[in-house]
Amino acid sequence: MKYESQKVALWYFAAAMGLFAVQILVGLLAGAVYVMPNLLSELVPFNIIRMIHTNALIVWLLIGFFGAAYYLIPEEAETELHSPTLALVQLGLFVFGALAAVVGYLFRIYEGREFLEQPTWIKAAIVVVALMFLYNITLTLIKGRRTVITNILLVGMWGIAIFFLFSFYNPSNLALDKMYWWYVVHLWVEGVWELVLASILAFLMIKMTGVDREIVEKWLYAIVGLALFSGILGTGHHYYWIGTPGYWQWIGSIFSALEVAPFFTMVVFAFMMVWKSGRRHPNKAAMLWSLGCSVFAFFGAGVWGFLHTLAPINYYTHGTQVTAAHGHLAFFGAYAMINFAIITYAMPYLRGRQPYNQLLNMWSFWLMCGGMAFMTFVLTVAGVVQTHLQRVLGMDYMEVQEQIALFYWMRLGAGVIVGVGVVLFLYSIFGPAREERPASIPTNYQPAE
Ligand code: HEM
Ligand code: HEM
Ligand SMILES: [Fe+2]
Repeated sequence: MKYESQKVALWYFAAAMGLFAVQILVGLLAGAVYVMPNLLSELVPFNIIRMIHTNALIVWLLIGFFGAAYYLIPEEAETELHSPTLALVQLGLFVFGALAAVVGYLFRIYEGREFLEQPTWIKAAIVVVALMFLYNITLTLIKGRRTVITNILLVGMWGIAIFFLFSFYNPSNLALDKMYWWYVVHLWVEGVWELVLASILAFLMIKMTGVDREIVEKWLYAIVGLALFSGILGTGHHYYWIGTPGYWQWIGSIFSALEVAPFFTMVVFAFMMVWKSGRRHPNKAAMLWSLGCSVFAFFGAGVWGFLHTLAPINYYTHGTQVTAAHGHLAFFGAYAMINFAIITYAMPYLRGRQPYNQLLNMWSFWLMCGGMAFMTFVLTVAGVVQTHLQRVLGMDYMEVQEQIALFYWMRLGAGVIVGVGVVLFLYSIFGPAREERPASIPTNYQPAE
């Protein structure tokens, strides 16, 4: 760690991981309710459990992005953060807002749109938090060195804030409501979040492989160009059946099919950089998460997204377990894993140590990734069976759910494996460091600038 103010990232990572633990616990509860429908139904109904699960996800991912930005921007900009104090106040406000939202949900205070159920005053608090962040980062970058990585990260973060503003507009016409809802949800995960993902990945590649910045920057431009070219009009894959004109079936199908390209490019980029450099960073766990992130994002977003993105296919699969399978692997592979990668990379510096608990961390990688892959697989099979019985044969919805109950049990089992991986990960990151230095540091390693 070169700059004192990078330390604020430690608090962000801790808060993010705390909420991540909540998300997983509540996810397990949701999975249990699926197979035991009366569980807790009087106390906390399923829709509330689901809402806490998805909202906790979005909030911890954003806190992780903020933490990543506060960690990498001083190093890229070669200057201290404009105001570390403001950064901590921002975190306090965000965590307070998140907890207030959860307590409100438990008392049935929420608004109707998925992922955006927060009451208006909490949405306003989120905007204030975003403005504090953007102010802090923008002023830091004005006085410091600007790089392609910081520029793209900044554009991504501004984009997140700007598209969030559409969450305040809630027209009563249901088709219009849905149209704008996707401005937030789709243009986040298949637009501006991809910029954040790609810039963090690029930072990690420069640090861990030592490949020239100029080469990394060219890849970064290519990835970002592809993401925006395909992702913006790709919004059309949500406009097939909501009352929008029929030409969206063409636009959505064509452009969203192209959305596979930026994710594929990220895989090639990450592996090329590691292969080209021949240099091995001592933090093997961080390298594993970085490479794994590119691969899982490609499968979860790219492959599982493509599976149901063409209009004639989506006509059948829309809103089935195929969607849930894709939603899980995409969010996990792209945005949860990039967080684990930067946290695993940064924590040894933040705690002033050599990379520690590497073996434990890598075990958590295989458990979490194995569990999520298994969950995706069983949900996909459930989704295909569901599609056939319900949409082709016209069987009743609840009758179909009984037919696929076995897969819901397997999803719960997969979730337990993920849960064990999560416990290991948290312990490996925040628990005592078992060895002062790794068993061996390869002799060809030189720390990257
Ligand atoms: C990391 C990036 C991505 C994430 C996090 C993500 C996540 C999600 C989530 C959570 C949903 C369900 C939304 C709902 O509640 O209705 C969804 C739907 C969908 N996604 Fe993605 N996605 C990503 C990338 C992609 C890509 C690249 C494609 C296409 C190649 C794609 C195609 C779709 C389609 C077609 C739907 C609608 C499914 C339906 O009709 O039920 N996604 N995505
Ligand atoms: C312990 C593991 C987990 C279990 C048992 C679990 C279970 C569930 C359940 C039962 C739902 C509701 C699905 C429905 O309404 O049909 C859900 C939704 C969701 N979960 Fe999880 N989850 C887990 C982990 C995760 C992780 C790690 C992520 C992302 C990083 C995630 C992201 C989501 C998303 C985005 C949705 C909304 C999906 C959609 O709209 O299609 N979950 N989860
Ligand atoms: Fe989308």
